[in-house]
Amino acid sequence: MADYALQLSDDEVARYRLMAEQARDQEAALWAQAGVAPGARIADVGCGPGAILALLAAAVGAGGEVIGIDGDESAVAAATALIASTGLENASVRLGSADRTGLPEGAFDVVMMRHVLGHNGGTEQRIVDHLATLVRPGGALYLVDAHLKAIATYPEPAELEDLFDRYLAFLTARGSDPRIGLRLSHLAKSAGLTVEVFRGWIPIVPAPPGLRGPAWAAREAMLAAGAIDEADIRRWDRAFEASDAATERPLLFPSTFAVVGRRPGSPS
Ligand SMILES: C[S@@+](CC[C@H](N)C(=O)[O-])C[C@H]1O[C@@H](n2cnc3c(N)ncnc32)[C@H](O)[C@@H]1O
Repeated sequence: MADYALQLSDDEVARYRLMAEQARDQEAALWAQAGVAPGARIADVGCGPGAILALLAAAVGAGGEVIGIDGDESAVAAATALIASTGLENASVRLGSADRTGLPEGAFDVVMMRHVLGHNGGTEQRIVDHLATLVRPGGALYLVDAHLKAIATYPEPAELEDLFDRYLAFLTARGSDPRIGLRLSHLAKSAGLTVEVFRGWIPIVPAPPGLRGPAWAAREAMLAAGAIDEADIRRWDRAFEASDAATERPLLFPSTFAVVGRRPGSPS
């Protein structure tokens, strides 16, 4: 898979859980429209540590099945451990690449991909084209991604604004598109799907103490690329610690987009 920059850690796993709970609450109607329902067969490609995978497994129930794919061994290990600890017998996860998952074609009621395309500069359409082949006729591809340039935090210390700006510059220099959320409908349409819904929204989420976010998770990759130095990391670490101590929590405004793309035809 492409060189993925975000390193898993306890605070990253906690962030995925927070995002998954937000998604379940905010996207309930969209999930239902796409076909997330008891008995459904779902692939979650780029499943990360499995926070969404677990919610999907609960939604499809014992008569359904959810398969997670991720290219990062530590994410696969975390998702596997989550499945084992929650006793989810209808969920499994395997190592694989988003543009050639090895999953059977036309076999899934819903193929979901969340917050992955923004890390795959230049291969976005190839990935979406592949995912579209996994969907059964009449089934749906469900893509979620952010408009990173429109993400905001308030209040935000200048140091942490600097961290996020440097992260955006780093992603852009790697060829990734920080505005990928805006392109989801176009990508689905170009893959031959019928766009049923294309929606964007901005949840308002109080940042719990300890939350660090993707820019911080990418610090080692940014350091290795020479985009930042150790002094930057120390400076941002101090700013996070000061922010953790604030009793009034900063608010996050993650600009989010989703598309439901339907594969033409009806199930055979
Ligand atoms: C930001 S995380 C999102 C995790 C999950 N989808 C969620 O929303 O909670 C992105 C995940 O996609 C995986 N990933 C990124 N590019 C990939 C690729 N080309 N093939 C397979 N996995 C990929 C990463 O390893 C990471 O676990």
